[in-house]
Amino acid sequence: MKGYLKKLPKEVQDLILLAGDIASINNMRAYLVGGCVRDLLLKVENLDLDIVIEGNGIKFAEELAGAFNTKPIRHRRFGTATVDLLSHRLKIDIATARKEFYPEPAHLPVVENGSLKDDLKRRDFTINAMAININRDGFGKLLDLFGGEEDLNNRKIRVLHDLSFIDDPTRILRGIRFEQRYNFRFEPKTKKLLKGAVALRMLERVEPQRIRDDLILLLKENYPLKEIRRLKELVGFAFISPGLSVSDKIFRLIKFAEKQINWFKKNYPDRRMLDTWAIYFMALMDPLNSNAVRKVCRKFVFRKGEDKRILGYKKIGRKFISNLKRIKNKPPDIFSILEPLSYEVILLVKAKYKYRGIQKTIEDFLEIYNGMKICSKGDDLRRLGLTPGPSYQEIFTKVLNAKLNGAVKTKEEELELIKKLIRKWS
Ligand code: CTP
Repeated sequence: MKGYLKKLPKEVQDLILLAGDIASINNMRAYLVGGCVRDLLLKVENLDLDIVIEGNGIKFAEELAGAFNTKPIRHRRFGTATVDLLSHRLKIDIATARKEFYPEPAHLPVVENGSLKDDLKRRDFTINAMAININRDGFGKLLDLFGGEEDLNNRKIRVLHDLSFIDDPTRILRGIRFEQRYNFRFEPKTKKLLKGAVALRMLERVEPQRIRDDLILLLKENYPLKEIRRLKELVGFAFISPGLSVSDKIFRLIKFAEKQINWFKKNYPDRRMLDTWAIYFMALMDPLNSNAVRKVCRKFVFRKGEDKRILGYKKIGRKFISNLKRIKNKPPDIFSILEPLSYEVILLVKAKYKYRGIQKTIEDFLEIYNGMKICSKGDDLRRLGLTPGPSYQEIFTKVLNAKLNGAVKTKEEELELIKKLIRKWS
């Protein structure tokens, strides 16, 4: 095994050799490209392989998947395919080498088949525009047409041509993401071009869903505060909502939110995974009123659940906070206020409101009451002779409150309480 590929785990090397052989048998040329080459050179683990095929990418994907008794997932819209090899913890995205034209700035390009060189030329930054051949004759050879390796060594983010940010303004967000992730810097001309595209408000001309996707990726980076600071410095936030500006107060909120996220992950590793990006997004939206946030949600077309969370945070007003402070000793009240909220909203509230009462209430909620359920069911009530009706809900609420207060623990104790309640009714 030659060169850079030697750094990969043995089973990944074997898989790449096999992929190269499958390409050769079919008279195709195969290359690793983009992010995985960049990360290989940087010695950063990346288990998302991108393969570009000079030939027929879909046929290659079918043959590669076939070798593992599986089928590729085809993305017809893009003419690409993904082979998921869970056994290897690997995801392989496969595409036929293509040429792109941008008929209109900020719109999706028109695509046609091309050579590897065409494919590299259409990419965002030099560090993402390198390829490694994986056919056996040429195996491990790095193709670096734009000085990507040198830019990696000098820690520079550089576009391939002057219109790069105009053609695809999402590259502004991508560039900031890579710059901050690897602690690189935009080289001066690229920075100037980026600022030029910002001055032309190019981000506002892109389909909002594409902006949303890149914004989410940016906020999903580890500790995105530095990305957000850089965004403020180079771009601002008007592309999210007109007039949105992010003050030091918000930066502090983001920092506190980061602490709360770490605290939650450390203390509750078995709870569902947090959508950390949503916490940071809600923090950014903090200066906006509900109407403005609703507009942002509509524009970015978030998924239903995401919308609900983001708007849920906006519903938290002064009254809610004073309730939360006040109810600190009554478990049923804590439960009824916090249980309907998502972890994301709860953690942001915890980050924003430092009152001891609120901190303790939220900690107690997460530790003791969150997810508490009673064991008794409708069938139990029926068996005790109660006809189904509104009284069922009333009884369940009373039993749950008793459980939250610690007055009942086991199902037997619940049933005893239910019997008492029924007796009182009749
Ligand atoms: N790419 C591009 N312009 C874009 C999006 C993607 O040129 N707007 C190219 C880049 O060459 C990039 C590759 O497509 O390396 C794969 O894109 P993606 O998977 O989004 O990025 P990665 O570079 O793999 O980054 P990450 O590590 O964040 O996944």
